[in-house]
Amino acid sequence: MGRKRVAVIGAGVCGLSSIKCCLDEGLEPTCFERSGDIGGLWRFEENPEEGRASIYRSVIINTSKEMMCFSDFPIPDDFPNYMHHSKIMKYFRMYANHFDLLKYIRFKTIVVSVTKRPDFSTTGQWDIVTETAGKQESAVFDGVMVCTGHHTNAHLPLDSFPGIEKFKGRYFHSRDYKKPQEFSGKRVIVIGIGNSGTDLAVELSHTADQVFLSTRRGAWILGRIGEEGYPMDTIYITRYLEFLKRIVPLCLLNYFAEKKLNAKFNHAIYGLQPNSLHGVILQHPTFNDDLPNRIISGKVLVKPNIREFTETSAIFEDGTREEDIDVVVFATGYSFSFPFLGDCAKVIKNQVSLYKFVFPPQLEKPTLAFIGLIQPLGAIMPIAELQGRWATRVFKGLNGLPSASNMMADIAQKREEMAKRYVKSQRYTIQMDYIPYMDEVACLAGVKPKLLSLFLMDPKLAVEVFFGPCTSYQYRLRRPGKWDGARKAILTQRERIIKPLKTRVLDDYTGALVPYYLQIFLIVALLTVTFLLLTFLCNQLCISFS
Ligand SMILES: Cc1cc2nc3c(=O)[nH]c(=O)nc-3n(C[C@H](O)[C@H](O)[C@H](O)COP(=O)(O)OP(=O)(O)OC[C@H]3O[C@@H](n4cnc5c(N)ncnc54)[C@H](O)[C@@H]3O)c2cc1C
Ligand SMILES: *[C@@H]1O[C@H](CO)[C@@H](O)[C@H](O)[C@H]1NC(C)=O
Repeated sequence: MGRKRVAVIGAGVCGLSSIKCCLDEGLEPTCFERSGDIGGLWRFEENPEEGRASIYRSVIINTSKEMMCFSDFPIPDDFPNYMHHSKIMKYFRMYANHFDLLKYIRFKTIVVSVTKRPDFSTTGQWDIVTETAGKQESAVFDGVMVCTGHHTNAHLPLDSFPGIEKFKGRYFHSRDYKKPQEFSGKRVIVIGIGNSGTDLAVELSHTADQVFLSTRRGAWILGRIGEEGYPMDTIYITRYLEFLKRIVPLCLLNYFAEKKLNAKFNHAIYGLQPNSLHGVILQHPTFNDDLPNRIISGKVLVKPNIREFTETSAIFEDGTREEDIDVVVFATGYSFSFPFLGDCAKVIKNQVSLYKFVFPPQLEKPTLAFIGLIQPLGAIMPIAELQGRWATRVFKGLNGLPSASNMMADIAQKREEMAKRYVKSQRYTIQMDYIPYMDEVACLAGVKPKLLSLFLMDPKLAVEVFFGPCTSYQYRLRRPGKWDGARKAILTQRERIIKPLKTRVLDDYTGALVPYYLQIFLIVALLTVTFLLLTFLCNQLCISFS
């Protein structure tokens, strides 16, 4: 028997890592990419291409470099923590070149259909029809990895906005937004308070006459910058916090998280507070450091949902009305579909039934895998990579899957958990928790770090694994797929975070000092007050007892 042939559909980040996973497992990958280059969504073009996601000129990623990099290929230490799309592309090109992935990609080739072969129940093989320059071709594959992304089709819910057909101004989906210049001096409404909506509102507000940000539910706004200026995701994605989440009651966690977020600016006063029962921990936050600044400068005004449009104005659900609107941007998210797959994976209301978000449970053979079809509270790249490592092992028969009914039960249970936690919305159908999900897939692939033995054998490393940011190198500490550089990468991750900031190196500066005599005075004062307070309390107690 020859090497198993795997078709990888799409050469975005998920496609690239999938090609590498195939190579690592000794499979023979062929990647089909409809455009002429790698990178998918992250390759900026002035004009949106059909069938490929599209971003605007200024996009900066919201996941920091140590949290988003592939697990055996750290991002160069001098790259900034949050990268512009051009830098991200640079990294992906380095990755593709380093592991020599380009020669497996057939560019300008669209996958038209993927169908089971007649003998599928015994071979698990697929017929794949592709089209290159108008010419169709067919080939047989032993496995398929679908890496076509889920930010391609604009979700434009015009039905929910009566009167939009009368509206005389311009309106379009955020997918078609590229740069702010053409909107200078205009009155703009941005609908939707997700990452795209807030990004666009902030960017437009620098040149527009006025920006209105309309939201149905509000959102918690997180900054990219966390304590002491460390990237936010390196602070909140840790095993230690995950552990706390499991033992501390949810209401307490929410209480403290809200208090913390509101300490920066009060979400209620700023009109942003989500008007649901869902606390911070339970909601997909929006990342934006500049929004509060634009709001307090009056350049962005937060408004409720729009009830209807007239020819020139918008009437909001609270009855207020804004006149002379020139432009409406719908930052209302995306929907996904797999037109080439036919019945093998039906998408209903943006939901597909997939075991661990990867395998359709009802196929006779597990030879079809979806990679990156998730909405994590963290970066997609390390997840796609782990999914790929697991899927290729399943293709090879090294790991098995449970029975169809058990897989379906697992899917139903996950869905119920999510439904309880998240508001029912297009956005949350493929939502999941980062570390628990990574660990689950890592378990299935047999690569989850063994914390207990790590604490015994290598306490220094264990401390960083448990208390430090949960970076993807952790899943390269043991076989299969062990990377010898993993330990060092974990122990030096903080250095790589700081490195790009060291563009002005300081002499030793110890920080502001409190003079010695003042310190003594403060301590004595504190002790005295405590003593007095205790005496007072004791007296009170004695009185009430006697
Ligand atoms: C504005 C924006 C900001 C984002 N920011 C972040 C972030 O900060 N961090 C993060 O982790 N994620 C972010 N994402 C999510 C993003 O989806 C992922 O980072 C990642 O790009 C997904 O990669 P992918 O390979 O799954 O899909 P894509 O990058 O969309 O690539 C899919 C590829 O498949 C090709 N293709 C599609 N159909 C076919 C076909 N039939 N035949 C052949 N080829 C086909 C396309 O041409 C494309 O190249 C963001 C998304 C958006 C829209
Ligand atoms: C980053 O932004 C993208 C696009 O808006 C979004 O899909 C993703 O969930 C965001 N990431 C995080 C960690 O919030």
